[in-house]
Amino acid sequence: MNRLNHSEAGKFYEWLGPNPVAKSGIRPGGLALTQRLMEVASLPSGSRILDVGCGSGVTLDYLRQKHPDFQAFGIDKSSKLLSLAKTVHYVDDIVNADVGFLPLRDSSFDGVISECCLSVISYSKVFLEELFRVLRPDGKLLLTDVYLRNDSGAENHVELAQGCCLSGAIGQPEIVDRLAGCGFRIIYWEDYSQLLKDFAVRWILENGSMKEFWNLMSNGQTATSCLSDWIQETRPGYYLLVAQKNISETN
Ligand SMILES: C[S@@+](CC[C@H](N)C(=O)[O-])C[C@H]1O[C@@H](n2cnc3c(N)ncnc32)[C@H](O)[C@@H]1O
Repeated sequence: MNRLNHSEAGKFYEWLGPNPVAKSGIRPGGLALTQRLMEVASLPSGSRILDVGCGSGVTLDYLRQKHPDFQAFGIDKSSKLLSLAKTVHYVDDIVNADVGFLPLRDSSFDGVISECCLSVISYSKVFLEELFRVLRPDGKLLLTDVYLRNDSGAENHVELAQGCCLSGAIGQPEIVDRLAGCGFRIIYWEDYSQLLKDFAVRWILENGSMKEFWNLMSNGQTATSCLSDWIQETRPGYYLLVAQKNISETN
């Protein structure tokens, strides 16, 4: 297996993108979870959707095939993953941009979907405000991501590489607070923690063991025993949520 230079944690996803374990998305759940998210969000026909942190374009390809009535666009800061999106999934409506500075008009989308990206960017306020800005009033935010089922051990995050999903994972109450602070009201939440375990099993079957995964997630700095203590304490899980841009609360 190729070793990754640990100097930039963001490269982890570029490394993972072409790995067979990520063929249905660089995250747990694959397209079955995307399908569930779309069912729950129930966006109207003709909706304009933005996939934030679209990675290798798996979801955009899915949307094009299963929801041809939608107009779907993607943004990601990794040009490597976007070129994978173009060459493997033949996805074109993608822009190389940072979530913090979306080159998009206010209120121009009915839905923003983001799968396993908000944890990567640590639910930063400036990023959430950008998602709020590009959504139309009453537009929907569709998320799946890693969270901590017990967030009391979250201080130990310093042990993890910045810019990976586990380092930015927070507990459910904090997710609710941060979204509410930026004007989003959560209308649906489901737990899919089993999918995180399934992802780990697929990883082991594909790559032999979790050793390299943890090495990457911790910049090679943290002993496996410390990581396993942290996992047992914080109990990382996976969620699906739909929130609505709540105009009245921000005015
Ligand atoms: C865990 S991957 C998920 C990719 C994709 N959503 C999927 O389901 O396959 C996280 C993605 O977020 C992107 N990302 C991280 N930080 C970003 C930022 N500041 N702006 C835009 N994209 C970012 C990464 O390049 C990567 O593609």
